[in-house]
Amino acid sequence: MAMKFIKLSSGNAEIPIVGLGTWRAQPEEVQNAVLVALEKGYRHIDTAFNYNNEDAIGDVLTKWFETGKGKREDLFITTKLPNFGNRPKDAERFLKMSLERLKLSYVDLYLIHMPFSFVCNESNFTPQINEDGTFRLDVDNDIVGTWKDVIVIPKSSNPVRIQANIDLFDFELTEDDMEELDALDKGEKGRIFDFLFFKGVEKHPEYPF
Ligand SMILES: NC(=O)c1ccc[n+]([C@@H]2O[C@H](COP(=O)([O-])OP(=O)(O)OC[C@H]3O[C@@H](n4cnc5c(N)ncnc54)[C@H](OP(=O)(O)O)[C@@H]3O)[C@@H](O)[C@H]2O)c1
Repeated sequence: MAMKFIKLSSGNAEIPIVGLGTWRAQPEEVQNAVLVALEKGYRHIDTAFNYNNEDAIGDVLTKWFETGKGKREDLFITTKLPNFGNRPKDAERFLKMSLERLKLSYVDLYLIHMPFSFVCNESNFTPQINEDGTFRLDVDNDIVGTWKDVIVIPKSSNPVRIQANIDLFDFELTEDDMEELDALDKGEKGRIFDFLFFKGVEKHPEYPF
């Protein structure tokens, strides 16, 4: 398996076009998944402050570096500013917390996780919730979110599927395959991920849907 890369427009970094997604992977599960993925040739790991698994991932990376199988510069690590930290004054401190959890001195990509913002609960770094159960919106943020779907980060904790998800460089889709895939597109009706688990988020001016 030879990994392919995309060069960043800055010209000084390349992103492996397949990464391991880790959202909703619990700490123990993610440790195993990251280890399996590294063994199978993944060099790109996608996490976030909000996934609460940076610490577990950091432990695995530290152990992997110690084995001598790879170095920090061989990896592309992405993490994300939480949606209660979307203010210029907060970005640095949340990045530092993520680095501490990951036991790294830098990440390769630091993303704004979501364009809308909540007020931060400083006692446990979660969004503040109003008495009616809605999330306390912070509408003073100034964020323009830009997402491009050119890199895939399939989440899996299953070794067979982690392998299957990286075996994608030895075939090409035909026009018929593409037509079949396009026919699955249900447009807006097909959206299954709408962030509405953040009760009240649709009132935020930066809510994207
Ligand atoms: N969805 C989002 O809006 C979102 C937002 C921010 C970031 N992300 C990043 O993107 C990653 C992927 O997100 P997602 O929403 O696409 O993943 P997902 O739906 O959360 O997880 C993928 C699911 O597909 C299964 N799976 C993985 N490979 C498979 C295969 N080859 N065959 C059959 N089933 C397979 C996994 O189960 P097993 O683990 O059991 O294999 C898992 O249940 C996240 O983990 C995160 O890092 C996603």
